[in-house]
Amino acid sequence: MSIKTKSELEGMKRISHIVGLTLKKMRSFTKPGMSTKQIDEYGYAILKEHGASPAPMKTYGFPGYTCISVNHEVCHGIPSAKKVIREGDLVNIDVSAELNGFYSDNGGSFIVGEDRQRLRPLVQASQEILHLAIRKIKHNVRIYEVGGLINREAKRRGFQVIKNLCGHGVGRHLHEAPEEIPNFKDRLIRGKFKKNMVVALETFISTNAKYAYPTDDQWTMLTKDQSFVAQHEHTLVVTDGHPIVLTKINGI
Ligand code: CO
Ligand code: CO
Repeated sequence: MSIKTKSELEGMKRISHIVGLTLKKMRSFTKPGMSTKQIDEYGYAILKEHGASPAPMKTYGFPGYTCISVNHEVCHGIPSAKKVIREGDLVNIDVSAELNGFYSDNGGSFIVGEDRQRLRPLVQASQEILHLAIRKIKHNVRIYEVGGLINREAKRRGFQVIKNLCGHGVGRHLHEAPEEIPNFKDRLIRGKFKKNMVVALETFISTNAKYAYPTDDQWTMLTKDQSFVAQHEHTLVVTDGHPIVLTKINGI
């Protein structure tokens, strides 16, 4: 969406604060021995307490309140009582929700406890690159220039990007125009960022693979070579200067 009124900005700020808070709390709640369903239900309780509805379920009928992807799962992992978190797991939680017709989207990868799989550099790269990309976004910057920066910074750190997973416009729907904000310089994407545009910018930084594919459950995405992928995502408003990062809570 493009924000036109003060009340639209207020609506976006409110839902963004709720998804930001939910993600932060779910992340600190996550401990070895818990199932991803337990973590998902904990997150749902927070969303519900604030009157927000989980967006992937509302929009696409996703079988969970949030997406929780573990280790080789790239994204859209379905919370399950059978999926139990272990020390050193790479976990990605993606929270998107709606309140009063406004949608916001916030995600992040992290390592549970001790870094037994030596994935800290991957997670750090994804987080740093998201912040570099956010800094580049302002009115009239081409969408593919930001993708180019993400890919360049990933390669400079010895990683790749997933080319078929993208950031997107958000606000009145979970996914709206601009439909694709790729993680590489995709010259087919002709659009520019415009002042007041609301977008969910997300990185997909990979240890090797460049594409992710859906599995038999129709939701969970995996790579063909069992790469690890880290994702970090913020919802923001484009301005003439630094974007307003709506999902940021206490500087994260
Ligand atoms: Co998301
Ligand atoms: Co998103």
